Amino acid sequence: MATYKIAWLPGDGVGNEVLAAARIVLDKVGFDAEYIHGDIGWEFWKTEGNPLPDRTIELLKSTDACLFGAITSKPKDEAAAELAPELRGKGYVYSSPIVGLRQLFNLHTNLRPCKAYPGNPLNFRDDIDLVIFRENTEGLYSGVEFYPLPDEVRAALETHPKMRRFADVPNDDIAVSARIFTRKACQTIVRDAFAYAKQHDYGSVTVVEKPNVIRETSGLMVREARAIAQGYPEIERREANVDAMCMWLVKNPQNYDVLVSSNMFGDIISDLAAQLVGGLGFAASGNIGDDYAVFEPTHGSAPKYAGMNKVNPTATIRAAKMMLDYLGERDKAAAIERAIERVIMEGKVRTYDMGGDASTTRMAEAIAAAVAE
Ligand code: IPM
Ligand code: MG
Repeated sequence: MATYKIAWLPGDGVGNEVLAAARIVLDKVGFDAEYIHGDIGWEFWKTEGNPLPDRTIELLKSTDACLFGAITSKPKDEAAAELAPELRGKGYVYSSPIVGLRQLFNLHTNLRPCKAYPGNPLNFRDDIDLVIFRENTEGLYSGVEFYPLPDEVRAALETHPKMRRFADVPNDDIAVSARIFTRKACQTIVRDAFAYAKQHDYGSVTVVEKPNVIRETSGLMVREARAIAQGYPEIERREANVDAMCMWLVKNPQNYDVLVSSNMFGDIISDLAAQLVGGLGFAASGNIGDDYAVFEPTHGSAPKYAGMNKVNPTATIRAAKMMLDYLGERDKAAAIERAIERVIMEGKVRTYDMGGDASTTRMAEAIAAAVAE
């Protein structure tokens, strides 16, 4: 019997190709796993009205970790229009399965390393080494949203004096998305960020919020961060507003180490940071909870490249590497990292985004070959 059981969720679009590429490298390092395929994504939305079927949730519960590819998601009305005719008008509402998985399994910590590989022609600078900790289950992604505004929600909101400004606006002219922060989730993400900084010798942790305007939610995060930072006197605690942070990340990205933020702000700064080190072809994420984790490339399903064997699989191969770290397979993880570094440094095999013409498979094979050397 294999040592590990891994849930294998390619999804759709380029998800299949990038997961197949990661598999080439995982096999080469001798990772001993049984891979169990799970249904997820657009196809299951269209045919079952649910892009995250219950059988897939059960599958995840029986495995040690999950590798996830990518899925197409579309706004509410477009999604409804693609449902199988017999499912239409029955109240099915599309919601992102990856956001669903994060919440269902309480994968509270989204870990997004953004490190420039020496020799990558896409680097904004070569000395960037950022690690983003994004809260992964609440904030603006809580899904507590209203449109039109129900009377009872309106009544509750009207206990706040600032609602007076909206007194004349009818319910069907107001949409509300709640930004919910809990103390526990704030503490968890900040603790994880500081513990990581300590373990990996990073000098600073920057808390990225906007407490001067979004006083209550961002304020809670910043207060908890100040308290937790006291336990880490050797690590410099910094604070930045999210808008200014975007500017600083373009101006002096080399001056930052670990960044920690809430769900939506973390989503935004992680795309910015990804582009500084080569773009989404390089950016990987770990969605990590107390007893389960899902690893994925940060990119989407890129439908226009689907089936072309063209996209850069490095992000997914890095996601697989992060999964090995999570499972305690540190030597194998380090071997993958060294292999990626070497292939990028040599520059002989490059996918289209890096100005080359290597296919997804060819890039993976080159990394696999470098593992063996
Ligand atoms: C990400 C993605 C997802 C998110 C989408 C696909 C729902 O942008 O992982 O950053 O918003 O979290
Ligand atoms: Mg994103």
